[in-house]
Amino acid sequence: MFHLHKVKTVLKTHSLDTAAIRKDFPILSRKVQGKPLVYLDNAATSQKPEEVVQAIQSYYRSYNANVHRGIHDLSEEATAAYESAREKIGSFINSKRREENIFLRNATEGINLIANTWGKKNISKGDHILLTIMEHHSNIVPWQLLAKENGATLKFVDIDDEGKLMLDQAEEMIDEGPRLLCITQMSNVLGTINPVKELIARAHDHGVTVLIDGAQSVPHIPVDLQDLDSDFFVFSGHKMLGPTGVGVVHGKRELLEEMPPFLTGGNMIKEVHMTEARWSDLPWKFEAGTPDIGGAIGLATAVEYLSSLGMKNVCALEKELTKYAMDRLIDIPGIHIYGPRDLENRCGIIAFNIDGIHAHDVSTLLNQDGVAIRAGHHCAMPLMERLKIPASVRASFYIYNTQKEIDVLVESLINAKRIFGS
Ligand SMILES: Cc1ncc(COP(=O)(O)O)c(C=O)c1O
Repeated sequence: MFHLHKVKTVLKTHSLDTAAIRKDFPILSRKVQGKPLVYLDNAATSQKPEEVVQAIQSYYRSYNANVHRGIHDLSEEATAAYESAREKIGSFINSKRREENIFLRNATEGINLIANTWGKKNISKGDHILLTIMEHHSNIVPWQLLAKENGATLKFVDIDDEGKLMLDQAEEMIDEGPRLLCITQMSNVLGTINPVKELIARAHDHGVTVLIDGAQSVPHIPVDLQDLDSDFFVFSGHKMLGPTGVGVVHGKRELLEEMPPFLTGGNMIKEVHMTEARWSDLPWKFEAGTPDIGGAIGLATAVEYLSSLGMKNVCALEKELTKYAMDRLIDIPGIHIYGPRDLENRCGIIAFNIDGIHAHDVSTLLNQDGVAIRAGHHCAMPLMERLKIPASVRASFYIYNTQKEIDVLVESLINAKRIFGS
Protein backbone atom coordinates (compact mmCIF):
# COMPACT_ATOMS: atom_id res chain seq x y z
CA MET A 1 0.00 0.00 0.00
CA PHE A 2 1.34 3.47 -0.71
CA HIS A 3 0.95 7.00 0.60
CA LEU A 4 -1.49 9.21 -1.18
CA HIS A 5 0.45 11.50 -3.46
CA LYS A 6 0.37 11.84 -7.21
CA VAL A 7 2.68 9.76 -9.41
CA LYS A 8 5.63 11.90 -10.49
CA THR A 9 7.26 9.54 -12.98
CA VAL A 10 8.25 11.03 -16.34
CA LEU A 11 6.67 8.84 -18.98
CA LYS A 12 8.10 7.69 -22.30
CA THR A 13 5.98 8.71 -25.25
CA HIS A 14 4.29 6.31 -27.66
CA SER A 15 2.85 6.61 -31.13
CA LEU A 16 -0.25 4.46 -30.79
CA ASP A 17 -3.68 5.52 -31.98
CA THR A 18 -6.03 3.90 -29.49
CA ALA A 19 -9.16 4.86 -31.46
CA ALA A 20 -7.80 3.00 -34.51
CA ILE A 21 -6.74 0.01 -32.39
CA ARG A 22 -10.19 -0.24 -30.84
CA LYS A 23 -11.74 -0.70 -34.29
CA ASP A 24 -9.81 -3.97 -34.60
CA PHE A 25 -11.60 -5.45 -31.56
CA PRO A 26 -15.24 -6.12 -32.44
CA ILE A 27 -16.15 -7.11 -28.86
CA LEU A 28 -15.41 -3.59 -27.62
CA SER A 29 -18.51 -2.25 -29.30
CA ARG A 30 -20.88 -4.50 -27.35
CA LYS A 31 -22.91 -3.44 -24.36
CA VAL A 32 -23.06 -4.96 -20.89
CA GLN A 33 -26.09 -4.23 -18.71
CA GLY A 34 -27.14 -1.73 -21.36
CA LYS A 35 -23.88 0.25 -20.98
CA PRO A 36 -20.80 0.32 -23.25
CA LEU A 37 -18.39 -2.42 -22.22
CA VAL A 38 -15.35 -1.17 -20.28
CA TYR A 39 -13.04 -4.18 -20.27
CA LEU A 40 -10.44 -3.87 -17.51
CA ASP A 41 -9.82 -7.56 -16.84
CA ASN A 42 -6.87 -7.95 -19.20
CA ALA A 43 -4.57 -9.62 -16.70
CA ALA A 44 -7.05 -12.51 -16.67
CA THR A 45 -7.34 -12.68 -20.45
CA SER A 46 -7.12 -10.14 -23.25
CA GLN A 47 -9.59 -9.51 -26.04
CA LYS A 48 -8.75 -10.71 -29.57
CA PRO A 49 -8.40 -8.54 -32.67
CA GLU A 50 -10.35 -9.38 -35.80
CA GLU A 51 -7.10 -10.46 -37.52
CA VAL A 52 -6.55 -13.22 -34.96
CA VAL A 53 -10.14 -14.42 -35.26
CA GLN A 54 -9.78 -14.39 -39.07
CA ALA A 55 -6.50 -16.34 -39.00
CA ILE A 56 -8.08 -19.10 -36.89
CA GLN A 57 -11.19 -19.12 -39.08
CA SER A 58 -9.11 -19.28 -42.22
CA TYR A 59 -7.23 -22.34 -40.91
CA TYR A 60 -10.47 -24.19 -40.14
CA ARG A 61 -12.15 -23.02 -43.35
CA SER A 62 -9.34 -23.52 -45.83
CA TYR A 63 -6.55 -25.86 -44.72
CA ASN A 64 -7.66 -27.77 -41.64
CA ALA A 65 -5.64 -30.98 -41.37
CA ASN A 66 -3.44 -32.70 -38.83
CA VAL A 67 0.21 -31.68 -38.75
CA HIS A 68 3.45 -33.63 -39.29
CA ARG A 69 1.65 -36.70 -40.62
CA GLY A 70 -0.12 -36.47 -43.92
CA ILE A 71 1.54 -36.33 -47.30
CA HIS A 72 -1.20 -34.28 -48.83
CA ASP A 73 -1.52 -30.57 -49.54
CA LEU A 74 -3.77 -29.70 -46.63
CA SER A 75 -1.53 -31.38 -44.08
CA GLU A 76 1.55 -29.78 -45.58
CA GLU A 77 -0.08 -26.35 -45.48
CA ALA A 78 -1.18 -26.87 -41.87
CA THR A 79 2.29 -28.11 -40.88
CA ALA A 80 3.97 -25.15 -42.58
CA ALA A 81 1.65 -22.69 -40.81
CA TYR A 82 2.11 -24.41 -37.43
CA GLU A 83 5.91 -24.46 -37.70
CA SER A 84 6.03 -20.93 -39.05
CA ALA A 85 3.97 -19.88 -36.00
CA ARG A 86 6.76 -21.32 -33.86
CA GLU A 87 9.31 -19.22 -35.77
CA LYS A 88 7.28 -16.01 -35.45
CA ILE A 89 6.63 -16.47 -31.74
CA GLY A 90 10.28 -17.43 -31.20
CA SER A 91 11.48 -14.25 -32.85
CA PHE A 92 8.96 -12.16 -30.88
CA ILE A 93 10.70 -13.23 -27.66
CA ASN A 94 14.11 -13.35 -29.38
CA SER A 95 14.77 -16.97 -28.50
CA LYS A 96 17.99 -18.42 -29.83
CA ARG A 97 16.67 -21.58 -31.42
CA ARG A 98 13.32 -22.50 -32.94
CA GLU A 99 13.33 -25.95 -31.31
CA GLU A 100 13.60 -24.46 -27.82
CA ASN A 101 9.98 -23.23 -28.04
CA ILE A 102 7.42 -25.87 -27.17
CA PHE A 103 3.72 -25.34 -27.70
CA LEU A 104 1.41 -26.45 -24.93
CA ARG A 105 -1.81 -25.19 -23.44
CA ASN A 106 -0.68 -22.35 -21.17
CA ALA A 107 1.87 -21.13 -18.63
CA THR A 108 0.44 -23.46 -16.00
CA GLU A 109 1.02 -26.52 -18.16
CA GLY A 110 4.52 -25.26 -18.94
CA ILE A 111 5.46 -25.08 -15.26
CA ASN A 112 3.95 -28.51 -14.64
CA LEU A 113 6.03 -29.85 -17.52
CA ILE A 114 9.22 -28.49 -16.00
CA ALA A 115 8.37 -29.69 -12.47
CA ASN A 116 7.51 -33.18 -13.69
CA THR A 117 10.51 -33.64 -15.95
CA TRP A 118 13.51 -31.47 -15.07
CA GLY A 119 12.29 -31.11 -11.47
CA LYS A 120 11.77 -34.82 -10.77
CA LYS A 121 15.17 -35.61 -12.22
CA ASN A 122 17.18 -32.82 -10.64
CA ILE A 123 15.58 -31.90 -7.32
CA SER A 124 16.21 -34.31 -4.49
CA LYS A 125 16.08 -34.70 -0.71
CA GLY A 126 17.67 -31.79 1.10
CA ASP A 127 17.46 -29.41 -1.90
CA HIS A 128 15.42 -26.26 -1.75
CA ILE A 129 13.52 -24.29 -4.36
CA LEU A 130 13.44 -20.50 -4.12
CA LEU A 131 10.18 -18.72 -5.00
CA THR A 132 8.82 -15.26 -4.26
CA ILE A 133 5.79 -14.37 -2.20
CA MET A 134 4.21 -12.70 -5.24
CA GLU A 135 4.01 -15.90 -7.36
CA HIS A 136 0.79 -17.04 -9.00
CA HIS A 137 -0.49 -20.42 -7.75
CA SER A 138 0.71 -21.89 -11.06
CA ASN A 139 4.26 -21.19 -9.96
CA ILE A 140 3.77 -22.48 -6.41
CA VAL A 141 1.59 -25.59 -6.37
CA PRO A 142 3.64 -27.73 -8.82
CA TRP A 143 6.70 -27.00 -6.66
CA GLN A 144 4.84 -27.89 -3.45
CA LEU A 145 3.93 -31.28 -4.90
CA LEU A 146 7.44 -31.91 -6.18
CA ALA A 147 9.02 -30.86 -2.88
CA LYS A 148 6.74 -33.26 -0.97
CA GLU A 149 7.51 -36.08 -3.35
CA ASN A 150 11.27 -35.58 -3.49
CA GLY A 151 11.95 -34.41 0.08
CA ALA A 152 12.88 -30.86 -0.92
CA THR A 153 11.72 -27.60 0.71
CA LEU A 154 10.41 -24.26 -0.54
CA LYS A 155 11.66 -20.84 0.49
CA PHE A 156 10.12 -17.49 -0.42
CA VAL A 157 11.64 -14.06 -1.04
CA ASP A 158 9.50 -11.39 0.62
CA ILE A 159 8.30 -7.99 -0.64
CA ASP A 160 8.75 -4.59 0.96
CA ASP A 161 5.87 -2.35 2.06
CA GLU A 162 5.54 -0.94 -1.45
CA GLY A 163 5.18 -4.36 -3.05
CA LYS A 164 8.65 -4.56 -4.57
CA LEU A 165 10.75 -7.65 -4.22
CA MET A 166 13.29 -7.35 -1.38
CA LEU A 167 16.36 -7.49 -3.58
CA ASP A 168 18.94 -7.78 -0.81
CA GLN A 169 17.04 -10.73 0.59
CA ALA A 170 16.66 -12.26 -2.87
CA GLU A 171 20.41 -12.02 -3.43
CA GLU A 172 21.22 -13.53 -0.05
CA MET A 173 18.81 -16.38 -0.66
CA ILE A 174 20.24 -17.00 -4.13
CA ASP A 175 23.72 -17.12 -2.61
CA GLU A 176 22.50 -19.93 -0.31
CA GLY A 177 22.33 -22.07 -3.44
CA PRO A 178 18.77 -23.22 -4.10
CA ARG A 179 18.48 -25.93 -6.76
CA LEU A 180 16.00 -23.78 -8.69
CA LEU A 181 14.84 -20.16 -8.65
CA CYS A 182 11.23 -19.64 -9.83
CA ILE A 183 10.17 -16.05 -10.26
CA THR A 184 7.56 -14.06 -12.08
CA GLN A 185 8.79 -11.27 -14.33
CA MET A 186 5.67 -9.26 -13.52
CA SER A 187 3.22 -9.70 -10.65
CA ASN A 188 -0.40 -10.28 -11.63
CA VAL A 189 -1.56 -8.42 -8.51
CA LEU A 190 0.99 -5.72 -7.67
CA GLY A 191 1.98 -5.00 -11.27
CA THR A 192 5.59 -5.08 -10.03
CA ILE A 193 8.19 -5.72 -12.72
CA ASN A 194 11.02 -7.72 -11.18
CA PRO A 195 14.66 -7.19 -12.26
CA VAL A 196 14.91 -10.76 -13.47
CA LYS A 197 17.94 -10.23 -15.69
CA GLU A 198 20.11 -9.30 -12.70
CA LEU A 199 18.67 -12.13 -10.59
CA ILE A 200 19.26 -14.68 -13.35
CA ALA A 201 22.90 -13.57 -13.67
CA ARG A 202 23.38 -13.85 -9.92
CA ALA A 203 21.71 -17.27 -9.88
CA HIS A 204 23.94 -18.49 -12.68
CA ASP A 205 27.03 -17.32 -10.78
CA HIS A 206 25.95 -19.77 -8.09
CA GLY A 207 25.00 -22.58 -10.46
CA VAL A 208 21.27 -22.09 -9.83
CA THR A 209 18.81 -22.96 -12.60
CA VAL A 210 16.12 -20.30 -13.23
CA LEU A 211 12.51 -20.49 -14.37
CA ILE A 212 10.80 -17.22 -15.29
CA ASP A 213 7.02 -16.95 -15.34
CA GLY A 214 6.36 -14.56 -18.21
CA ALA A 215 2.56 -14.88 -18.21
CA GLN A 216 2.13 -11.18 -17.39
CA SER A 217 5.31 -9.78 -18.90
CA VAL A 218 5.33 -11.07 -22.50
CA PRO A 219 1.97 -9.41 -23.30
CA HIS A 220 3.00 -6.02 -21.92
CA ILE A 221 6.76 -5.34 -22.03
CA PRO A 222 9.52 -6.11 -24.53
CA VAL A 223 11.03 -9.50 -23.66
CA ASP A 224 14.34 -10.68 -25.06
CA LEU A 225 15.17 -14.22 -23.98
CA GLN A 226 18.74 -14.12 -25.28
CA ASP A 227 19.36 -11.04 -23.21
CA LEU A 228 17.67 -12.50 -20.10
CA ASP A 229 19.42 -15.87 -20.44
CA SER A 230 16.75 -17.71 -18.39
CA ASP A 231 16.93 -21.51 -18.37
CA PHE A 232 13.16 -21.93 -18.60
CA PHE A 233 10.53 -19.35 -19.52
CA VAL A 234 6.76 -19.83 -19.82
CA PHE A 235 3.82 -17.75 -21.05
CA SER A 236 0.21 -18.06 -22.25
CA GLY A 237 -1.18 -16.89 -25.59
CA HIS A 238 -4.60 -15.81 -24.34
CA LYS A 239 -3.25 -12.88 -22.31
CA MET A 240 -1.56 -11.37 -25.38
CA LEU A 241 -4.35 -11.18 -27.96
CA GLY A 242 -4.09 -14.87 -28.86
CA PRO A 243 -6.69 -17.60 -28.34
CA THR A 244 -7.08 -19.72 -25.23
CA GLY A 245 -5.54 -23.20 -25.35
CA VAL A 246 -2.05 -22.34 -26.55
CA GLY A 247 1.04 -21.27 -24.65
CA VAL A 248 4.78 -21.68 -24.82
CA VAL A 249 7.44 -23.21 -22.64
CA HIS A 250 10.92 -22.17 -23.64
CA GLY A 251 13.91 -24.12 -22.37
CA LYS A 252 17.60 -24.11 -23.18
CA ARG A 253 18.32 -26.90 -25.63
CA GLU A 254 20.88 -28.65 -23.46
CA LEU A 255 18.34 -28.87 -20.60
CA LEU A 256 15.44 -29.95 -22.80
CA GLU A 257 17.55 -32.64 -24.41
CA GLU A 258 18.35 -34.25 -21.08
CA MET A 259 14.78 -34.11 -19.81
CA PRO A 260 12.42 -37.08 -20.13
CA PRO A 261 9.14 -36.39 -21.95
CA PHE A 262 6.17 -35.10 -19.94
CA LEU A 263 3.15 -36.51 -21.77
CA THR A 264 3.64 -39.48 -24.07
CA GLY A 265 1.81 -41.01 -27.03
CA GLY A 266 1.55 -39.97 -30.67
CA ASN A 267 3.53 -37.17 -32.30
CA MET A 268 6.34 -37.23 -29.72
CA ILE A 269 7.97 -40.48 -30.88
CA LYS A 270 10.37 -41.55 -33.60
CA GLU A 271 9.71 -45.26 -33.25
CA VAL A 272 7.52 -47.43 -31.09
CA HIS A 273 8.03 -51.16 -30.59
CA MET A 274 6.03 -53.47 -28.37
CA THR A 275 8.02 -52.77 -25.25
CA GLU A 276 9.98 -49.62 -25.96
CA ALA A 277 9.97 -46.34 -27.85
CA ARG A 278 12.35 -43.62 -29.04
CA TRP A 279 11.44 -39.96 -28.68
CA SER A 280 11.16 -37.34 -31.41
CA ASP A 281 13.70 -34.54 -31.63
CA LEU A 282 13.02 -31.21 -29.98
CA PRO A 283 10.55 -29.57 -29.80
CA TRP A 284 8.16 -32.41 -30.71
CA LYS A 285 9.41 -34.67 -27.90
CA PHE A 286 7.30 -32.47 -25.59
CA GLU A 287 4.28 -32.10 -27.89
CA ALA A 288 2.39 -35.37 -27.41
CA GLY A 289 -0.86 -35.82 -29.31
CA THR A 290 -2.47 -33.45 -31.79
CA PRO A 291 -1.54 -29.89 -30.82
CA ASP A 292 -3.77 -26.82 -30.91
CA ILE A 293 -2.90 -26.01 -34.52
CA GLY A 294 -5.45 -23.23 -34.95
CA GLY A 295 -4.36 -21.82 -31.59
CA ALA A 296 -0.71 -21.61 -32.61
CA ILE A 297 -1.68 -19.96 -35.90
CA GLY A 298 -3.86 -17.47 -34.00
CA LEU A 299 -1.07 -16.71 -31.54
CA ALA A 300 1.38 -16.07 -34.38
CA THR A 301 -1.05 -13.51 -35.80
CA ALA A 302 -1.35 -11.97 -32.32
CA VAL A 303 2.41 -11.50 -32.05
CA GLU A 304 2.48 -9.99 -35.55
CA TYR A 305 -0.18 -7.54 -34.41
CA LEU A 306 1.76 -6.65 -31.23
CA SER A 307 5.00 -6.33 -33.21
CA SER A 308 3.34 -3.95 -35.66
CA LEU A 309 2.45 -1.72 -32.68
CA GLY A 310 5.90 -2.18 -31.13
CA MET A 311 6.24 -3.54 -27.61
CA LYS A 312 7.94 -0.35 -26.41
CA ASN A 313 4.84 1.56 -27.49
CA VAL A 314 2.55 -1.00 -25.87
CA CYS A 315 4.43 -0.64 -22.60
CA ALA A 316 4.49 3.19 -22.78
CA LEU A 317 0.75 3.35 -23.49
CA GLU A 318 0.00 1.10 -20.52
CA LYS A 319 2.21 3.14 -18.22
CA GLU A 320 0.39 6.28 -19.34
CA LEU A 321 -2.96 4.66 -18.53
CA THR A 322 -1.63 3.39 -15.20
CA LYS A 323 -0.41 6.85 -14.22
CA TYR A 324 -3.73 8.41 -15.18
CA ALA A 325 -5.65 5.75 -13.26
CA MET A 326 -3.48 5.99 -10.15
CA ASP A 327 -3.72 9.77 -10.11
CA ARG A 328 -7.50 9.53 -10.28
CA LEU A 329 -7.95 6.58 -7.93
CA ILE A 330 -5.97 8.09 -5.06
CA ASP A 331 -8.52 10.91 -4.88
CA ILE A 332 -11.17 8.39 -3.77
CA PRO A 333 -11.35 8.55 0.04
CA GLY A 334 -10.76 5.20 1.76
CA ILE A 335 -8.96 3.55 -1.18
CA HIS A 336 -5.87 1.38 -0.59
CA ILE A 337 -3.76 0.68 -3.65
CA TYR A 338 -1.17 -2.11 -3.65
CA GLY A 339 2.11 -2.20 -5.55
CA PRO A 340 4.99 0.18 -6.35
CA ARG A 341 4.38 3.90 -6.68
CA ASP A 342 6.97 4.51 -9.36
CA LEU A 343 6.08 3.42 -12.85
CA GLU A 344 9.61 2.35 -13.70
CA ASN A 345 8.93 -0.83 -11.78
CA ARG A 346 5.32 -1.51 -12.59
CA CYS A 347 2.99 -1.85 -15.49
CA GLY A 348 -0.74 -1.78 -16.19
CA ILE A 349 -2.21 -3.66 -13.24
CA ILE A 350 -3.75 -1.88 -10.25
CA ALA A 351 -5.09 -3.88 -7.30
CA PHE A 352 -6.91 -2.01 -4.57
CA ASN A 353 -9.54 -2.14 -1.83
CA ILE A 354 -12.03 0.42 -0.63
CA ASP A 355 -12.78 0.67 3.11
CA GLY A 356 -16.11 -0.82 4.03
CA ILE A 357 -16.87 -2.61 0.73
CA HIS A 358 -15.88 -6.19 -0.08
CA ALA A 359 -14.05 -6.60 -3.39
CA HIS A 360 -16.82 -8.87 -4.72
CA ASP A 361 -19.45 -6.22 -4.01
CA VAL A 362 -17.34 -3.63 -5.82
CA SER A 363 -17.11 -5.97 -8.80
CA THR A 364 -20.88 -6.58 -8.85
CA LEU A 365 -21.64 -2.86 -8.76
CA LEU A 366 -19.05 -2.06 -11.43
CA ASN A 367 -20.57 -4.73 -13.66
CA GLN A 368 -23.87 -2.87 -13.49
CA ASP A 369 -22.04 0.05 -15.13
CA GLY A 370 -20.57 -2.21 -17.82
CA VAL A 371 -17.13 -2.28 -16.16
CA ALA A 372 -15.41 -5.69 -16.13
CA ILE A 373 -12.72 -5.97 -13.46
CA ARG A 374 -11.60 -8.90 -11.30
CA ALA A 375 -12.16 -9.39 -7.59
CA GLY A 376 -10.74 -12.10 -5.38
CA HIS A 377 -7.36 -13.55 -4.49
CA HIS A 378 -6.15 -13.52 -8.12
CA CYS A 379 -4.61 -17.00 -7.68
CA ALA A 380 -2.04 -15.47 -5.33
CA MET A 381 -3.26 -16.47 -1.88
CA PRO A 382 0.20 -16.40 -0.24
CA LEU A 383 0.51 -12.78 -1.38
CA MET A 384 -2.97 -11.98 -0.01
CA GLU A 385 -1.86 -13.47 3.34
CA ARG A 386 1.30 -11.37 3.22
CA LEU A 387 -0.76 -8.23 2.55
CA LYS A 388 -3.22 -9.33 5.28
CA ILE A 389 -6.23 -9.00 2.99
CA PRO A 390 -8.69 -11.70 1.91
CA ALA A 391 -9.16 -10.27 -1.57
CA SER A 392 -8.76 -7.18 -3.71
CA VAL A 393 -10.25 -5.51 -6.75
CA ARG A 394 -7.97 -5.53 -9.80
CA ALA A 395 -8.17 -3.28 -12.84
CA SER A 396 -5.77 -4.20 -15.63
CA PHE A 397 -5.19 -2.36 -18.89
CA TYR A 398 -4.23 -3.18 -22.44
CA ILE A 399 -3.68 -1.49 -25.78
CA TYR A 400 -7.35 -0.67 -26.39
CA ASN A 401 -8.15 0.98 -23.05
CA THR A 402 -8.70 4.73 -22.77
CA GLN A 403 -8.61 7.44 -20.14
CA LYS A 404 -12.34 7.84 -20.68
CA GLU A 405 -12.82 4.24 -19.59
CA ILE A 406 -10.79 4.92 -16.47
CA ASP A 407 -13.12 7.86 -15.78
CA VAL A 408 -16.06 5.44 -15.99
CA LEU A 409 -14.28 3.13 -13.53
CA VAL A 410 -13.68 5.99 -11.09
CA GLU A 411 -17.27 7.30 -11.33
CA SER A 412 -18.57 3.78 -10.80
CA LEU A 413 -16.38 3.33 -7.71
CA ILE A 414 -17.63 6.63 -6.29
CA ASN A 415 -21.16 5.42 -6.91
CA ALA A 416 -20.37 2.11 -5.14
CA LYS A 417 -19.15 4.06 -2.12
CA ARG A 418 -22.36 6.11 -2.14
CA ILE A 419 -24.50 2.95 -2.22
CA PHE A 420 -22.54 1.38 0.66
CA GLY A 421 -22.47 4.66 2.60
CA SER A 422 -18.74 4.19 3.05
C1 LIG B 1 1.78 -14.37 -13.27
C2 LIG B 1 0.93 -15.50 -13.79
N1 LIG B 1 1.45 -16.70 -13.91
C3 LIG B 1 0.76 -17.74 -14.39
C4 LIG B 1 -0.54 -17.60 -14.77
C5 LIG B 1 -1.28 -18.77 -15.30
O1 LIG B 1 -1.69 -18.55 -16.60
P1 LIG B 1 -2.61 -19.63 -17.31
O2 LIG B 1 -3.88 -19.71 -16.50
O3 LIG B 1 -2.84 -19.07 -18.66
O4 LIG B 1 -1.87 -20.90 -17.29
C6 LIG B 1 -1.16 -16.35 -14.65
C7 LIG B 1 -2.58 -16.16 -14.99
O5 LIG B 1 -3.25 -15.28 -14.54
C8 LIG B 1 -0.39 -15.26 -14.15
O6 LIG B 1 -0.93 -14.05 -14.03
